[in-house]
Amino acid sequence: MKIAVTGGVGFIGSNFIAYFCSAHPEHHVLNIDRMTYAANPVTLQYLSKWKNHSFLKLDICDSHVFEAIEGCDAVVHFAAETHVDRSMLDSSAFLKTDILGTYNLLEAARKVGIKRFIHISTDEVYGSITSGSYDESSPLNPTNPYAVSKAAADLLVLSYVKCYEIPAIILRFSNNYGPFQHPEKFIPLFITNLMEGRRVPVYGDGLQIRDWLFVEDTARAVELVLEKGAPGEIYNVSAHQERTNLEVTRSILKLCGRGEDFIVHVPDRIAHDRRYSLVSAKIEALGFSARHNFEEGIAKTVAWYRENQQWWKAIRNSDEFLDYYRKKYPGL
Ligand code: NAD
Ligand code: TYD
Repeated sequence: MKIAVTGGVGFIGSNFIAYFCSAHPEHHVLNIDRMTYAANPVTLQYLSKWKNHSFLKLDICDSHVFEAIEGCDAVVHFAAETHVDRSMLDSSAFLKTDILGTYNLLEAARKVGIKRFIHISTDEVYGSITSGSYDESSPLNPTNPYAVSKAAADLLVLSYVKCYEIPAIILRFSNNYGPFQHPEKFIPLFITNLMEGRRVPVYGDGLQIRDWLFVEDTARAVELVLEKGAPGEIYNVSAHQERTNLEVTRSILKLCGRGEDFIVHVPDRIAHDRRYSLVSAKIEALGFSARHNFEEGIAKTVAWYRENQQWWKAIRNSDEFLDYYRKKYPGL
């Protein structure tokens, strides 16, 4: 099988490729990535050790996507603009890549007659929930431009299933964490700040709740659905590891040998969703269960950032990152 993976130099895409290429030397993965600020070239060097992986630098909005995926059996579509805070500063790239890019890819998949199209989505499309959990039939209620762009892409995928019988499947994941995540995101930002001796910026009261899924478990969920998922279906994927942001912060502080005096409460994110929570019985019925609890996963993650400082320092020392950081966290 030849699989086109979009966004394969990003956080989840690169972890999926490393996992899948090791587990399936009989398959080939074509990695299509535009190499935005979120893609670290060092990640690509790391992926080059798998001989069943090849790379193509291409924007998913480009008309050449059609030629690129010709001859592929399946598409796994990770590519997106993904940072909620950036989507509130300027949403144009989110609308372009997440919606129009998905449209372009669906059109290409339709023309080449792709046999499986796995669309990677998020729990954020359902919005916040105070108690209980959303299942796949819950209404969509996205509250920031990132979540709206992902919800629009999901609806577009579902329309292509209905109108053109594209064999697409949607996976809605809870928050991922693990190696190779860009250091502007919550967990890697806090780990690398502490490793640099800086304090960590907790938004508001820090009692917002996320359900943390270790990225290797995500890779296994995608592999499972490639094999056993039913076309046209949506599958939620949860780790059942809900933690408040303060609980996550305290775990990181402990693993990095720092005290609570390193916490700074900064103004809350606008329209900050209080809690995300998913029912994931449907994918569990296919045989999925997350293998990492949060305590195991976060220990592995901190160890990875400790051992791979070159990887994140390349990003943190860039003008792009420093400019973003100074504007977003003045005085930190
Ligand atoms: P990321 O930002 O780390 O990586 C995104 C990748 O997509 C980057 O390599 C980037 O260069 C590439 N890309 C962006 N625009 C592109 C374009 N126009 N053409 C080609 N490539 C482009 O993101 P991530 O955290 O790995 O997320 C991957 C997917 O998983 C996204 O669709 C996201 O919505 C979804 N998701 C993420 C999480 C999470 O916690 N990280 C949770 C649920 C769902
Ligand atoms: P994030 O990684 O941006 O994921 P999402 O908002 O998509 O769930 O943030 C995770 C949580 O961490 C979210 O509740 C916002 C919070 N957060 C902070 O408290 N401080 C920060 O500096 C960042 C980046 C996030």
